[in-house]
Amino acid sequence: MTYRYRALRFSIAAAAALTGIALLTVLASAGTNSPKGSETKGRAYYRQMCKDCHAKGAKGGEVSPLTKTQAQWRTYFQKAKHAGGAEPLTKYMDDAKLLDVQVFLINHAADSPQPETCGK
Ligand code: HEC
Repeated sequence: MTYRYRALRFSIAAAAALTGIALLTVLASAGTNSPKGSETKGRAYYRQMCKDCHAKGAKGGEVSPLTKTQAQWRTYFQKAKHAGGAEPLTKYMDDAKLLDVQVFLINHAADSPQPETCGK
């Protein structure tokens, strides 16, 4: 095997390894990051469109970020069924707004670094 050939093989292997690392980084961050959406907008939408029915004593029962853990909120929005599964969450707002609401609820869930009730 000539020296040039070996050098070429080495650089191909190095390029392949780098590509692999880059791919892994992308995959890892896709799996762990919160979904993209605006917490600030989500808080506002929640107050405008969910809170009427979900304040203490209201007909939907009290619901706040603290009602569920982060994992439970993710599952809830994946299913996207509301009121015991009777209707889709999209009855109240479109998917883009629901994503913002989801980010708000997850960021302040019971087991989040910043738990917060919606009254604030
Ligand atoms: C028109 C009133 C109303 C609005 C608006 C409303 N909800 Fe509800 N929600 C209810 C009722 C009624 C229930 C069922 C309560 C029960 O089963 O005891 C419920 C249940 C829930 C529950 C408990 C789990 C379930 O689905 O049964 C969550 C969480 C929830 N709502 C979140 C939301 C979010 C988020 C929004 C805004 C996108 C929202 N709700 C808007 C009336 C409402």
